[in-house]
Amino acid sequence: MKIVTKYVDIDSGRLEREIAKVADCYEKLESSDMAGWLGYASSGAAKFDLSFISRTAEIIRHTSEVFIVVGIGGSYLGSKAVVDALLSSVFKHNKDAGCVKNTENVEKCVEVIYAGQNLSAEYLEQILEIVRTKECCVNIVSKTGSTVESSIAARLIIDEMMWKYGDEYKTRVYVTTDKAEGPLRRAADIEWYTSFEIPQNIGGRFSVFTPAGLLPIAVAGVDIRAFYEGAVEAERLYRNGDSANDAILYAALRNYLDVEGKDIELFAVYEPRHSTLASWWVQLFGESCGKDGVGLFPAQACYTTDLHSIGQLVQEGRRNLFETVLWCEQDADIEIPWLSGWKLRAHGGEDFLGGKKLSEIARAAYIGTMEAHTEGGVPCIGIELEKNDAKNIGKLMYFFMIAAALSALSQGLNPFDQPGVEAYKKGMRKLLS
Ligand code: PA5
Repeated sequence: MKIVTKYVDIDSGRLEREIAKVADCYEKLESSDMAGWLGYASSGAAKFDLSFISRTAEIIRHTSEVFIVVGIGGSYLGSKAVVDALLSSVFKHNKDAGCVKNTENVEKCVEVIYAGQNLSAEYLEQILEIVRTKECCVNIVSKTGSTVESSIAARLIIDEMMWKYGDEYKTRVYVTTDKAEGPLRRAADIEWYTSFEIPQNIGGRFSVFTPAGLLPIAVAGVDIRAFYEGAVEAERLYRNGDSANDAILYAALRNYLDVEGKDIELFAVYEPRHSTLASWWVQLFGESCGKDGVGLFPAQACYTTDLHSIGQLVQEGRRNLFETVLWCEQDADIEIPWLSGWKLRAHGGEDFLGGKKLSEIARAAYIGTMEAHTEGGVPCIGIELEKNDAKNIGKLMYFFMIAAALSALSQGLNPFDQPGVEAYKKGMRKLLS
């Protein structure tokens, strides 16, 4: 993984001061009582999770066609980001690992779908129809166990499963919640659902390496051991207060650009299957760094698709944004056929695409766009990933988590709370009670 800074016009003295300011917060991060995620992937608890989760995922894959994950915010975006990033963008399957042979030796793949992240009756009705017509298991993920959206979805889905499966339904419900507290923990204990723990010192948006993220990721067929390897490698690289640490550099660059009046950070990805990763990034930085009247607005885009929607604004609109651009080497490639005959004549005899690889054209779009945007007054930070695999995605997510926490701390904020989110919940409860 490489950070590209040449598209930001840097005053090195000022950047060094920002780096020192972020590095100074490092000890505060280590001593926070919500920093359990920092060393989780390399801990003994994680090793236990890996084997328990792998065995459970195997059972789920053999007994279901659809695995419904109920959760919102940090309780669904992390796992969905990984599942979407690593499975095919067109068919949500992983040919190598996500599919199993059934008793007739026919290959079947488990579809991982999400519920509880909205209040749409139309959406939920479709989920319930899936429960009625397909073999399902459900995983309810909620740290507090009391979030309205996920509680509603869980209630409806479990009722439907009781009708369909009778007493057997209990073997199809998996709960991931706090170790000791909350209504979901109590329900799991009373009903004997198989349950997993989200450690008390790990909050929702930092929980992708805990069972909250791991179970759906494993059921989808992603190699969770490789995912962990990435996190462990990232821990070695980024869990320190050195000024040469790239996570500190990224947090410092964000602060540097903030001071220059760039108050929107647009996270642009080039792979459609990284779009959920971008949504996860938005939540991570939005909830961790946006409070007490400060914080960059985190926005997301998928290029080149969105160059044809917001590209104009980025190039020439209000100059209050910068971009963080995720580039990943493609694992598939296609060569563009040459034009000839009337097709060539229709293009005025010119064929600048023929014989080129799609990867080469996409890379030209990535570099060309950063050059154009920088010239237009939009600084760009590039983040380059060698390969779109479980290990690199794990490493990238850990990198962003540590950068987000340090960004918030360096602005004098608590990265781990979200008091503003509570405000809407209170408003809704008041109206309903
Ligand atoms: O990052 C967070 O802590 C939040 O986004 C939560 O994950 C989200 O509000 C859902 O909460 P819970 O897991 O308690 O249902």
